[in-house]
Amino acid sequence: MLKGMVSIVTGGASGLGRATVERFAKNGGKVLILDIQGTRAQEVSKSLGSDVVASTGCVTSEKDVKKALDIVKEKFGRLDILVNCAGQSEAFQLYNFNKDKPCELEHFSKLVNINTVGTFNVTRLAVGLIGKNKPDSNGQRGVVVNTASTFAYDGDIGQVAYAASTAAIAGMTLPIARDLASQGIRVVTVAPGIFETPLISYLPEKMLDFIKRMTPFPSRLGKPEEFAHLVTSIVENPMLNGEVIRLDGAQRWFPL
Ligand SMILES: NC(=O)c1ccc[n+]([C@@H]2O[C@H](COP(=O)([O-])OP(=O)(O)OC[C@H]3O[C@@H](n4cnc5c(N)ncnc54)[C@H](O)[C@@H]3O)[C@@H](O)[C@H]2O)c1
Repeated sequence: MLKGMVSIVTGGASGLGRATVERFAKNGGKVLILDIQGTRAQEVSKSLGSDVVASTGCVTSEKDVKKALDIVKEKFGRLDILVNCAGQSEAFQLYNFNKDKPCELEHFSKLVNINTVGTFNVTRLAVGLIGKNKPDSNGQRGVVVNTASTFAYDGDIGQVAYAASTAAIAGMTLPIARDLASQGIRVVTVAPGIFETPLISYLPEKMLDFIKRMTPFPSRLGKPEEFAHLVTSIVENPMLNGEVIRLDGAQRWFPL
């Protein structure tokens, strides 16, 4: 089903996005990686052949996203799938009571800007191109898959900005699906638990063991390929729409 389909994967130079790019490419898809880490994105594209191209850019920039869409049009002639995977995470305390000092407001706005505004920005610009497709036998023109986090539901200490930024992505899933329904474009969000990617490399071993113990089954971190597998299932199943799907081995987060 992925054969010949054209995708943009933001954040495709690393982690969950990269696994998605690899799965799409392995199944005959054509992919543009939009990532702020241009060199890494180029390396991934080179390793996967001429059906994977890279464009350096920030998801919050209209200019960068339009440039990526122009490349997709020129190289592949259409766009079927958008996977929003670009995101960042940062932990900070809301208030330091020892120093009697609130956190900087920029910590909060930075994550909301990259994770939430970035997802919205790429989606609003990309669906114009997806909407130009001729509908398939189901009336579908394309699919948007977003990435939130289980922290959208139970964020831990120090994660207020990350939790808020991903909860907003979960919250905009249904209204965007409703906005795009008349064009036959589906929108689904994945809310992963803790996955083995560079994003969580700062977590100490003790914390990772604790996370594994909190994950009933399988009691381990998620693998990026498992995220890519779900993205593929979402693309392939025409009845999935307007929903947020947890991918977490029944993991729930209890504050330490
Ligand atoms: N790894 C996890 O445990 C986990 C859990 C839940 C949700 N997530 C979410 O999944 C998404 C992917 O995370 P990951 O674990 O693969 O992280 P990662 O750090 O391995 O990859 C993220 C990619 O996004 C790119 N990126 C960051 N900011 C960008 C921007 N402004 N514009 C364009 N590209 C940008 C980075 O360069 C990187 O290549 C993130 O949104 C993250 O919040 C990750």
